[in-house]
Amino acid sequence: MNESIIDELSARIKDLSAKTEQEIEDIRVKLLGKKGEITALFDEFRTVPADQKRLFGQRLNILKNEAQQRINELRETLASCDSAASGEDLTMPGDVMQLGARHPISITREEILSIYKKFGYSVAEGPEVEDDWHVFGALNFPPEHPARDMQDTFFINNQTDNNILLRTHTSSIQVRTMEKGQLPIRVVCPGRVFRNEAISARAHCIFHQVEGLYIDKNVSFADLKQAVLLFAQEMFGADTKIRLRPSYFPFTEPSAEVDVSCNICKGKGCNICKGTGWLEIMGCGMVDPNVLKANGIDPSEYSGFAFGMGVERIAMLKWQVKDLRNYFENDVRFLREFSTVI
Ligand code: DAH
Repeated sequence: MNESIIDELSARIKDLSAKTEQEIEDIRVKLLGKKGEITALFDEFRTVPADQKRLFGQRLNILKNEAQQRINELRETLASCDSAASGEDLTMPGDVMQLGARHPISITREEILSIYKKFGYSVAEGPEVEDDWHVFGALNFPPEHPARDMQDTFFINNQTDNNILLRTHTSSIQVRTMEKGQLPIRVVCPGRVFRNEAISARAHCIFHQVEGLYIDKNVSFADLKQAVLLFAQEMFGADTKIRLRPSYFPFTEPSAEVDVSCNICKGKGCNICKGTGWLEIMGCGMVDPNVLKANGIDPSEYSGFAFGMGVERIAMLKWQVKDLRNYFENDVRFLREFSTVI
């Protein structure tokens, strides 16, 4: 037996590599299987002269161990590659999951809509870019009304043809609902509205409204009052009171402004309600017969009421947010305060 064969095999064993289980098994069979190279050397061992048997015996055993060890190493390497490839490094520390929070305006919008859905209203939406007719004309705004002025409204086209504009209120969706000609109507219309205002703690050029419209035979002001009262009690608590103050809107007659009893001081007077015990939440009124007529509904047969509220305003009252700008800046410290509101 030649010592150099053992040396050469030993060197090859150190360099062995394998990518699959099968390749490792092939290596094992080639070296240590019944007809393997090392097994063959053991067979040959019988022919070694007696005085060399001890030395060769030791060297063969070492070689066999080297082969066995290398095969084990290859198996371990392959197993660890497999788990790394499947992303399962169980020794890695876990990632902290940062959960997002719903925006307070979305939360409030959904809450308003879900209250009215419970009362049997459906939800309608409409375009933000509108024409004069849907925002003003069909809602009984006289031609000289200040809302039709560049100072208050963002117009899309030029000054000589003020026809396309960003809607200033969601009342335009009332018009789009009425012109479909399906009666009775019971809808709430959420949406974003735009007004040419300087941004401050109490005003913004973009905000959100929810509008309501109810048209049927024999709808009275008492029905409007009840719809507003039930909403206020669902939104601000069962002991909430309302009061209606006479007001003016071109599209309703009579019109009113709705106040709720201050839910902070329970009507005693605090700095949120400025000592009055009341907080204004929405405008409302009986749909003006001119509006019904303009939208193809016969006012001698049908009557209805409408109401409109600012979502930011309702959210401010609910959570005592003092500065409207918080809603638009998306400062996560502010937004995270709402992460526990479901
Ligand atoms: N459109 C009014 C606004 O933007 C809100 C409003 C008031 C809507 C009275 C109505 C209503 O439907 O009846 O200020």
